[in-house]
Amino acid sequence: MCGVIGYVGSKSCARLIFDGLKRLEYRGYDSAGIAVLDHGKIELVKAEGKLVHLEPRLEELPLKATMGMGHTRWATHGAPTARNAHPHLHGDLVIIHNGIIENYRELKEQLMKSGVEFKSDTDTEVVLHQLHAELERTKDLKAAIMETVKHLRGAYALGIMYAREPGQMYVVKQGSPVVLGAGDGENFFGSDALALLPHTNRAVFLMDGEFARLKADSIEVWDFAGKSVRRDPAVLNWSASSADKQGYKHYMLKEIHEQPAVMSSILSRLVDLKENTFVDKETGIDALDLGRIKNVAIVACGTAHYAGQIGRYMIEEFTRLPANVELASEFRYRNPCIDASTLVIAVSQSGETADTLACVKHAVERGCQVMSICNVRFSSIPRASHAVLYMEAGPEVGVASTKAFTAMVLSFYVLSLAIGEKLKTVAARRLEKSFDSMRHLPALVDRAVNAAGVIEEIAHKLYEAQNMLFIGRGPSFPVATEGALKLKEISYIHAEGYAGGELKHGPIALVDRHMPVVSIAPRDNQYEKMISNIEEVRARQGRIIGVGDIEDERFRSICEHYIPCPQIGDDHLQSILSVIPLQLLAYYVADMRGTDVDQPRNLAKSVTVE
Ligand code: AGP
Repeated sequence: MCGVIGYVGSKSCARLIFDGLKRLEYRGYDSAGIAVLDHGKIELVKAEGKLVHLEPRLEELPLKATMGMGHTRWATHGAPTARNAHPHLHGDLVIIHNGIIENYRELKEQLMKSGVEFKSDTDTEVVLHQLHAELERTKDLKAAIMETVKHLRGAYALGIMYAREPGQMYVVKQGSPVVLGAGDGENFFGSDALALLPHTNRAVFLMDGEFARLKADSIEVWDFAGKSVRRDPAVLNWSASSADKQGYKHYMLKEIHEQPAVMSSILSRLVDLKENTFVDKETGIDALDLGRIKNVAIVACGTAHYAGQIGRYMIEEFTRLPANVELASEFRYRNPCIDASTLVIAVSQSGETADTLACVKHAVERGCQVMSICNVRFSSIPRASHAVLYMEAGPEVGVASTKAFTAMVLSFYVLSLAIGEKLKTVAARRLEKSFDSMRHLPALVDRAVNAAGVIEEIAHKLYEAQNMLFIGRGPSFPVATEGALKLKEISYIHAEGYAGGELKHGPIALVDRHMPVVSIAPRDNQYEKMISNIEEVRARQGRIIGVGDIEDERFRSICEHYIPCPQIGDDHLQSILSVIPLQLLAYYVADMRGTDVDQPRNLAKSVTVE
């Protein structure tokens, strides 16, 4: 999960590339580097750690250079040191890479036997030397690329410059994301469109098994066999400003506060709240053969997996189809019982998560119908699916997913109802009630987001905790696991989410007067049982932090701290409201602990390696 960017045109490119890397830093921030080609010479600067450490070295690069590329790294092979930082240079060739070369060891041994001396521990340097060897044989970089890829196994997005071929650079795509930006008299490439937005919103999406040659005034595309491919630019509807912090201290806080608008935006596209109808071309169900579906498998990772857990309740209630939720990294290795009667729903904010993409490809091979719920248009997962529901939540830059989670849950709600309506498995009265709840949702989300004050106060009492439990029942159980993930991934406090009814089967042994237990108990059909579970914790001196109805004095009276949460009267949609206090709690605790909220240690926003 690294960030790559390149430029060829007429502008001084060092600072332009650096600024592009800043937009990609959320993809990995262990080390960074930039290479430019100027008057037949490659100049290179690198630095360990975040981009802030590279910035002072920009002045070492020739200002006149109008062609170059940059890389910000999330280490896979080789420690996060300057030695292993990209770009990697050998002779007149320089390369940057996002992905993993799975057979790099055998290639490295062969190259070392032929006398190659390696300067780094990376798999990327293996590609560089393989390419150099092919170039020696073919004397032509395009031919050398086509020969090199025959040796590679794994995932790679490569940027390549050759000092003897000034004015042009190559981009190679196999399994890792990279998009080309078509400008006026200048062209770009980047790991995602976000980095290119300040310069162009015209994107050219390479497919796996394709490579491109970029010059200032042209983009040529071939497949790995050398056959020319036509790829017309698509116009992106994101604005550069939508990807900035807009005055918030962190992207995560901005994205939490964007949720009311995101809910409204999703509803305005997917449903007609005046006519109480669904927009099938936006929900994607017009691309499905609904009559063929006998079961549903939801595949996703991390936060998207927890959204899928909530989606499962909706799918089963509204469509009466049995639904499983699977960890994408596990799913295809257990030879799952899926076939042409299965609908696989792949959920992914980035659309590039390697584990989830691999599931999609596996499901397509098994004859399943595949739908994706995704936030990034033209990304790999929707492109590999038969149908797609785009969340259109806008760019999510904070590594900790917030607005994408609630957007996924709402998307599942609409999708399940739309399918249920077609299959006639949802009563008219239930449909009508659901449309009414959807009409009220954005305003209630706005109220939840604006309760931040009381949550910040509670965070002051909790930020030194070593451990924390989150509990809930029904759809509040995945909410609890999502709340635990938010806390642990940005504050580094160990946290776990459990079903409220599960505590007494072991985890309650963890409870003592030092253990905060965030307890989610909306007024739903499991409220009484959940209050009993909370009393069990209280009987063991657990510190109860309640999340519930503002008027629920009974619940409030048994809590050390109480976070009032708007109630919508729909158990499924309630999960969107209940998660918001947990997002805010995690944010304030992490900020008080001084961690890097937007770029937590060891993480990256999009995990494009398996
Ligand atoms: C969530 O806060 C994490 N950043 C992570 O679990 C993320 O949800 C997961 O990697 C899946 O990403 P995706 O939605 O882009 O596929």
